[in-house]
Amino acid sequence: MPIGLAQRMLDVAPSATKAMTAQARALSAGGHDIIALTQGEPDFDTPKAICAAGVAAIRGGHTRYTTVAGIPDLRQAIAGQLDQDHDLAYAPDQIIVGSGAKQVIVNALLATLDPGDEVVVPSPCWVSYPEMTKLAGGVPIIADGMASATFKLTPALLDAAITPRTRWLILNTPSNPTGAVYTASELDALAEVLRGNDHVAVLCDEIYEQLVYSPARFASLAAMAPDLSDRILIVNGVSKAHAMTGWRIGWGAGPKPLIKAMTTIQGQTTSHASSIAQRAALEAVVGDQAHLKAFRDTLRKRRDLICEHLNRMPGLACRVPDGAFYVLVSCEAMIGRKAPDGTPIGSDVDFAMLLLERFGVAVVPGSSFRAPGHMRLSFAASTGDVVRACERLQEACDTLMAETA
Ligand SMILES: Cc1ncc(COP(=O)(O)O)c(C=O)c1O
Repeated sequence: MPIGLAQRMLDVAPSATKAMTAQARALSAGGHDIIALTQGEPDFDTPKAICAAGVAAIRGGHTRYTTVAGIPDLRQAIAGQLDQDHDLAYAPDQIIVGSGAKQVIVNALLATLDPGDEVVVPSPCWVSYPEMTKLAGGVPIIADGMASATFKLTPALLDAAITPRTRWLILNTPSNPTGAVYTASELDALAEVLRGNDHVAVLCDEIYEQLVYSPARFASLAAMAPDLSDRILIVNGVSKAHAMTGWRIGWGAGPKPLIKAMTTIQGQTTSHASSIAQRAALEAVVGDQAHLKAFRDTLRKRRDLICEHLNRMPGLACRVPDGAFYVLVSCEAMIGRKAPDGTPIGSDVDFAMLLLERFGVAVVPGSSFRAPGHMRLSFAASTGDVVRACERLQEACDTLMAETA
């Protein structure tokens, strides 16, 4: 008899981003010339000093189990960074280090959700929030921000999404997939709604904090609304800022009882993040930070380049993102048209497939982020790839607009 799967698997989808990346890789491996704009990671190498700290950890024998919540030096350093950057006072026992921000978020949801509890997820949203919520037995309530010009959650949308069963609001700034960055006054307005709903906690996913392009400025809800601190969990990590996605280090900072419960879950599942990666992350947090600006400057140039091209292409339109390394592009004008072989393009998924199979550009369809009629392009690819991808997209748009003309 085959191994049966749990009921919960009926409802949990695999990551669409990872699926599209895998498909692009498979086509490339088969000899096709594919440019992937699907990646959720910078194309930069991890800075040398951070790698050296990892090597030194191995050589120095830091190869055994660590404390579940993370090595004390790293937790102390994270607390120091929160204090220095945002004037936020967290004790090391209010911080948990996990295997990536992803594990930290799952720990938090598992620690707090009972079956049927609701999590407000503003859309467009990162593909994993609704699925993680379902895995933890909760119900994602999508607050649809597609109608708002900035794609951001508004106080009215938040108010309408909250019910007596709401346990969490997940707030992601800068956002994956829109690159939207919440201003201090926007956070203030959301905090006002939260003050009237003291049963709602906020998971602030700030993993793209370091990737904000001036004049936009990063603002943290915890710093804006200190009165809400006992129901805010900040999630951050080294993956995106320090080009360390494969090292798998993320962290959460929040109220002690929550961190304690999350630590219990981690202790019974993965035990702790890699001892070696924790030492490398310590260097990332306390060491030279010059690479942050260098990464940001490079990504900013690519953002300007790709957005300028996209907004000149017939049938496509995008807002210039203030942060992260994604641009959410409307391809609504392409839907209803026909591919060169006569196949109708009925959705953003069809359009993304056409781009991949006929024009050699891999993007993620917006539907995966609850943004139908759109596609997400990552500009964390090399500048050469971004330029070549724009040429191919231009050809695709010209072809499709001509087909139906
Ligand atoms: C919004 C958001 N949060 C969290 C993560 C996961 O980060 P990590 O690689 O540290 O698990 C990602 C990765 O794509 C993300 O886009």
